[in-house]
Amino acid sequence: MNTKKHIAVFASGNGSNFEAIACACAENRLNAEVVLLVCDNPKAFVIQRAEKFNIPVFAFQPKDYAHKADYETEIVQLLKKHNVDLICLAGYLRLVSDVLLDEYEGKIINIHPSLLPEFKGLHAIQQAFESGAKITGVTTHFVDKTLDGGKIIDQVEVPIENCTLEELETRIHTAEHKLYIKTLAKLLT
Ligand code: GRF
Repeated sequence: MNTKKHIAVFASGNGSNFEAIACACAENRLNAEVVLLVCDNPKAFVIQRAEKFNIPVFAFQPKDYAHKADYETEIVQLLKKHNVDLICLAGYLRLVSDVLLDEYEGKIINIHPSLLPEFKGLHAIQQAFESGAKITGVTTHFVDKTLDGGKIIDQVEVPIENCTLEELETRIHTAEHKLYIKTLAKLLT
């Protein structure tokens, strides 16, 4: 019997975290399968990554819908069609609303490139770099209606000293790819 849990990843851009999750599933490092990519930018590079893994993509443009509830309703229908157990936000640049939360609250997680509650929102790596802090990090957390505000699942520290912003970004992304898989392994067992 196939006991693999079904994951949907939501992303808006590059998709390196999407790829880390898809790879871990393909290599059986996670007892799960990525069954859907939801992407709010049809030109995003993450779509090419999904095609490489033969993962179905729902790409849409929010401006084609009158209301956020309309596209989220369509997304919920797709998630149900694919029997999705867990939703991973990975660089999805939108807040989710009640339409998704009512169906999947407690089953939506996100990764954020800071030690939350420090440096919420956009450009978190740069915010930390410019703050003079010696340590930043990465957080995985459950998603609620607030910006980067849901219950924290796990965190890992990343040192800031002796590096450029670009080097810090590389350190953070490397840490993210490990932490997301560690968090998923914990949640899936
Ligand atoms: C990551 O830094 C993630 O923490 C943040 O958005 C970025 C997405 O990167 N939420 P990628 O698209 O997965 O490469």
